[in-house]
Amino acid sequence: MTAYSEILVDTPQNGVQLIRLNRPQARNALCTALLGELDAALALAAENDDIRVVLLSGSEKVFAAGADIKEMAALDAVGLWKDRRPQHWQAIRHFPKPLIAAVNGYCLGGGMELAMHADIIVAGTDARFGQPEINLGIIPGAGGTQRLVRAVGKSLAMKLILSGQFIGAEEALSAGLVAEVTQPELTLKRANALAETIAGKSPIALRLAKEAILSSFESPLSQGLELERKAFLFLAASQDRQEGINAFLEKRTPKFTGQ
Ligand code: CAA
Repeated sequence: MTAYSEILVDTPQNGVQLIRLNRPQARNALCTALLGELDAALALAAENDDIRVVLLSGSEKVFAAGADIKEMAALDAVGLWKDRRPQHWQAIRHFPKPLIAAVNGYCLGGGMELAMHADIIVAGTDARFGQPEINLGIIPGAGGTQRLVRAVGKSLAMKLILSGQFIGAEEALSAGLVAEVTQPELTLKRANALAETIAGKSPIALRLAKEAILSSFESPLSQGLELERKAFLFLAASQDRQEGINAFLEKRTPKFTGQ
C-alpha cells in the first residue's frame, strides 16, 4: 500500500479510481511532492487492470491554485532546471487511460494546466479558470500557452494569459475548455457517473481512441488519419470487438475484458 501525504487515493470502484488533491492549507498548490505523488499514483493506475478511468478532483472550494509559489520562489534558474517537475508533468501527459477532471472553485495557473492534461473537464458552476502567472511576472510553465490556445482559440487564450483575468464555468463551456457544467455539489457525482460509463467500454478501444485524439494536436491530418486507420484495424484483432458486436446482435450488454 503506497502512502501519500499530498493526495488522497481512493480504492477503485466500478473501474474508476478517484484521486483528490489534498493540500487545503495551500489551496491545493502543486508543490513538487504533490506532483511526484500524482505521478506515482497514475503509474500504479496505469498498470492496474481494475482501474479503467481515473477521476481527478480538488476540494469543494478549489481545484488547485497553481504551482506552489513559495516553493518556486526558493528556486533559481538552475534549481528550476534540476527540478523533477517536468518529468512528473511528462508522466501525467503520457497517462494512457482516460483521465477526467472534476473542477470546483479556483482552477488557476498550474492547476488549470493540470485540468487541461485531463481528457475531459467537468466543472461546477462555481469554477473559476485562469492563468494568472502574468501577475507574478512569469508565464505558464506547464503547457498553458500551448494547450489553452488549442482548447479555446487564440483570442481568448491571449486574453487570459496576457491579462491574468479569470473566466467562469459557463464561459469555459462555451469556449470548449470544459465538456459539462453542473451544480457545484454535483460535480464529483456527475464526473464519476461519466467515468463509470467510460469504464464500461473496452479498455483497448479507449486507449487507442485517446491516443488517436491526442495525436491530432501533434500531427498533420493525413498522419492522424493513418494512425486512426491502423488503430481501427488493430482493434479488429481484439476479443472486445467481437464481444461488442456479438452483444449488439444478441441484444445484451457487452462485457469488455480488455483482451
Ligand atoms: N502557492 C503557494 N501557496 C498558495 C498558493 C500558491 N499557488 N495559492 C494560495 N496559497 C496559500 C496562501 O499563501 C495562503 O497561505 P497562508 O495561509 O500561509 O498565508 C493560503 O494558501 C490561503 O490563500 P489565500 O488566503 O490567498 O486564499 P483565498 O481563498 O483568499 O484565495 C486564491 C484563493 C484566489 C487561489 C489565491 O490564493 C491566489 O490567488 N493564489 C495564487 C494563484 C496564482 O497566482 N497561481 C499561479 C501560480 S504560478 C504557476 O502556476 C506556474 C505554472 O504555470 C506551473
